Amino acid sequence: MSIALADSDTAATSEAESPADTGIQSFVVTFIIRRFDPEVDAEPRWVDYDVELYSTDRVLDALHKIKWEVDGSLSFRRSCAHGICGSDAMRINGRNRLACKTLIKDLDISQPIYVEAIKGLPLEKDLIVDMEPFFASFRDVQPFLISSSVPEKGKERIQSIVDREVFDDTTKCILCAACTSSCPVFWTDGQYFGPAAIVNAHRFIFDSRDDAGDVRLDILNDKEGVWRCRTTFNCTEACPRGIEVTKAIAEVKQAVLRGKR
Ligand code: SF4
Ligand code: FES
Repeated sequence: MSIALADSDTAATSEAESPADTGIQSFVVTFIIRRFDPEVDAEPRWVDYDVELYSTDRVLDALHKIKWEVDGSLSFRRSCAHGICGSDAMRINGRNRLACKTLIKDLDISQPIYVEAIKGLPLEKDLIVDMEPFFASFRDVQPFLISSSVPEKGKERIQSIVDREVFDDTTKCILCAACTSSCPVFWTDGQYFGPAAIVNAHRFIFDSRDDAGDVRLDILNDKEGVWRCRTTFNCTEACPRGIEVTKAIAEVKQAVLRGKR
């Protein structure tokens, strides 16, 4: 069945030269996707798809191809398709990654590629999980600037380059949940705040313009807070933004012990 492609990214593709036009060789890749429809399935099931792709394609392109040309019921989230919105984190060959940043050429296509939803969050359908527990922990750490002073009229809050550098890494988070859903502590204890919430607390705890660092440190000095981290580094390996997640968690632990930032 051919399907009309209506969104902006496909419109752009139709005007550009396709790999077929340039003579680039295509190949068939087998995807094995863990499907689950709560209205039909008692348990998730693995389903095979053979997809014709080019080395320039990404896993997201393969999922689009399956959805648009083979089975429109395949469900997954995506928005920007460029590693910015954080909506398409999934387990690809057992590793948490963004489908839009995972190039086919970087995978071993002599073997099937396994794709499933991220772990530790309630499965809703196919590759979609309920993100609410994840965002609840994010909200709990008060991820916004809290200041007791008011800047002079018409002036910005001044911050030195050195002070800005302290939390630069943790400003890069896109809330994809790849870190939290790769954490074995989070898998077994859904109450744990998880790496992403701590990363976003770090971003404000170490911001010299913020005055609520101690409040956030109190929140994270909890049995479900930073002390649950076992330094397995899964989170750091999973982060598509290259954030040193485990290091950020360690810095928050140190700040809790020091009692101030
Ligand atoms: S720290 Fe990295 S892996 Fe975790 S939510 Fe943010 S961007 Fe995603
Ligand atoms: S679709 Fe936005 S990060 Fe992948």
